[in-house]
Amino acid sequence: MIKFLIDNVLNDKPYTKHDLCVILQAKDDDRQYLFKRAQEVKEKYIGKKVYFRGLIEYSNICAKNCYYCGIRRDNKLLERYTMTNDEVLEAAHFAYTNKYGSIVLQSGELSSHSYTQNITYLLHEIKKLSNGELGITLSLGEQSEETYRQWYDAGAHRYLLRIETSSKEHYEQIHPNDEQHRFENRLKTLHTLKKLNYQVGTGVMIGLPFQTYEHLAADLMFMKNFDIDMCGMGPYIEHKDTPMYNWKVDLLPLAERYDITLKMIALLRIMMKDINIASTTALQAIDPIGREKAITIGANIIMPNITPKKYRDKYFLYDNKPCADEEAEDCVRCLEMRIKFAGGEIGYNEWGDSKHFLNKKIHDSTD
Ligand code: 5AD
Ligand code: SF4
Ligand code: FES
Repeated sequence: MIKFLIDNVLNDKPYTKHDLCVILQAKDDDRQYLFKRAQEVKEKYIGKKVYFRGLIEYSNICAKNCYYCGIRRDNKLLERYTMTNDEVLEAAHFAYTNKYGSIVLQSGELSSHSYTQNITYLLHEIKKLSNGELGITLSLGEQSEETYRQWYDAGAHRYLLRIETSSKEHYEQIHPNDEQHRFENRLKTLHTLKKLNYQVGTGVMIGLPFQTYEHLAADLMFMKNFDIDMCGMGPYIEHKDTPMYNWKVDLLPLAERYDITLKMIALLRIMMKDINIASTTALQAIDPIGREKAITIGANIIMPNITPKKYRDKYFLYDNKPCADEEAEDCVRCLEMRIKFAGGEIGYNEWGDSKHFLNKKIHDSTD
């Protein structure tokens, strides 16, 4: 029965949220069937290539106060940092010389004029140092349309903004109730990014307090209906210095959060065959070969951390984050080995843009 539902999704026949809910609970044989089909879809539509995005964790200063996140504003136990411009450019240069096609610039959410202008400056400089060859993804939270436009014009062409959960009610349970944390704004912001022609990535955390299978099925429907280009989803992992830590007793075991994440990735792969799906670091915080497993069952993007070592232990969104003591070189070598082990090939010097985005554009221009 579950196999029949999986085949429906696979063959783009109509399916319901309830069907997705059932598939997410697949066990044993059915679970393997899902993984196998997702693997085939990936091979057919995406191929074996895995693309690197060198991750630069630019600053851990954040104006927001999400209940789950280790770098939230009210965490006073954390030493705050912002990388110098030279350090950012050096990291970008490292990515360039190591033939990564792209980088991701990520930080806590800030929107002061000096901050947004400095990002614009960095974008120009990164393009310059790489002869325009490095692709740039931003993950810098909610910003104004004007800021996004400026960053796009300066050379960024992909943007990651996780919806975190597609249920307004659930969103309000995991964020403070104030102007800074409005579900409606987050949604509107995603639409703005799409309008501005960014390749848009979103995603959710899996295994959050209050979350049900219905929520997760709705999250997948949301991504499909929004017609996203990229997705990054990972297990929720508690951080001891956050309010959400108090709800720890109600959580699913880590192994289960991890397993549901794999199923979410596999199912999304058969729903949206040509999008980019990241294998997120949080998977590796639970299973030492978690990222490789995700590559095998559907993911095609990996983000090696290239933040200088001295800052790494300060960008802890959750406990037990991997690669805290490694330098950029260590992660590169480690990941090359890991991807080969997972049967993938690395797409050196390629942007590895979302095929879904490119296919949409071709389609639009021939309509
Ligand atoms: N566990 C897992 N992921 C987290 N994030 C923030 N806090 C946690 C946590 N405790 C994720 C959010 C955010 C991204 C940058 O990190 O989804 O969008
Ligand atoms: Fe800031 Fe993002 Fe963490 Fe929320 S999840 S506190 S916006 S860094
Ligand atoms: Fe960082 Fe393996 S990816 S050490």
